[in-house]
Amino acid sequence: MLQNIAVLTSGGDAPGMNPAIRSVVRTAMERGCDVIGISNGYDGIFEGAVEKLTGTILSGMIDRGGTILQSSRCKRFYDPVGIDEAKERLIQLGIQGLVVIGGDGSLTGARELHRRGFPVIGIPASIDNDMLGTEMAIGADTAANTIMQLIDRIRDTARSHRRCFLIEVMGRNSGFLALTTAISCGAEVAVIPEFAHNMSRIIHLLRSRFEKTRDNSIIVLAEGVCDAETFISRMLVEEQGVSFDQEIRKTVLGHVQRGGIPTHFDRILGARFGEMAVLGLLQGESGSMTGLEESHVTLVDLEKVIGFKKHPSSELIRLARHLQIEFGDVVE
Ligand code: F6P
Repeated sequence: MLQNIAVLTSGGDAPGMNPAIRSVVRTAMERGCDVIGISNGYDGIFEGAVEKLTGTILSGMIDRGGTILQSSRCKRFYDPVGIDEAKERLIQLGIQGLVVIGGDGSLTGARELHRRGFPVIGIPASIDNDMLGTEMAIGADTAANTIMQLIDRIRDTARSHRRCFLIEVMGRNSGFLALTTAISCGAEVAVIPEFAHNMSRIIHLLRSRFEKTRDNSIIVLAEGVCDAETFISRMLVEEQGVSFDQEIRKTVLGHVQRGGIPTHFDRILGARFGEMAVLGLLQGESGSMTGLEESHVTLVDLEKVIGFKKHPSSELIRLARHLQIEFGDVVE
């Protein structure tokens, strides 16, 4: 039985990381195991930035976005030598097991520690929700809610001025945020990396809406496709001189999408994932991550997750088609 475990948050912060940390600490304490917080992601291992986490540290953090442990994108973890060193440092620090809360890159680091024999369990946390093996990652629900509220506001202006708005949202390799918020906001177009957008169809749709009803339009663009500026220039090229009377404006939402008070869903998910990660480690599990599958929390082998691409579910795609959202064609 492990006497202690450590927890760290790594990569982009995601709302719900704090409830997950809290759940890790409380569950471990309930099971008679100490928890050590490592600050600043994997960098904190090299810096020796470790501190025993107690109930006091946990007070007043369940409703805060970001991560009380702070986070980083640790360059030393891109190098196998750096990971070897990290394992040695963890052992020197007397740490017996590790919970890593983070996205794809962070959990790749977790798998590498496991491959070197160090007990580790990951918790998927990324607003992009781009990890296979879990229907939802911590933070994606809060980010989608934030985006939805912002697009609703932009729609007010689009309606008032009969404009077309292009809204760039986060999602480096994933269209989850763009597609789901296009659905929840009633957008006309979603441009996502998983599908090849058809510019002439987009232009035709916008033009006929504008001509028939002098109506507004919303395009939600995932940053993983291109930036808003580039997309607008491509739209203008596609028009090939035929004038497009509707005014177009762009809004890049940027980092306002990442912070904020975690939703009920993300708090519960963080709590469930935190509990499961600790139970797994204490039962001798390693090399897996927590996942949400058909409402159940499970442990999924990281070997089946890392390096594989998550695709929007066929149900989501069908829904978007039925709601007449233009989002392109299957990539051959
Ligand atoms: O963590 C995911 C993410 O928010 C991506 O959607 C985005 O491309 C990236 O992080 C931005 O990272 P940074 O804050 O390091 O610029």
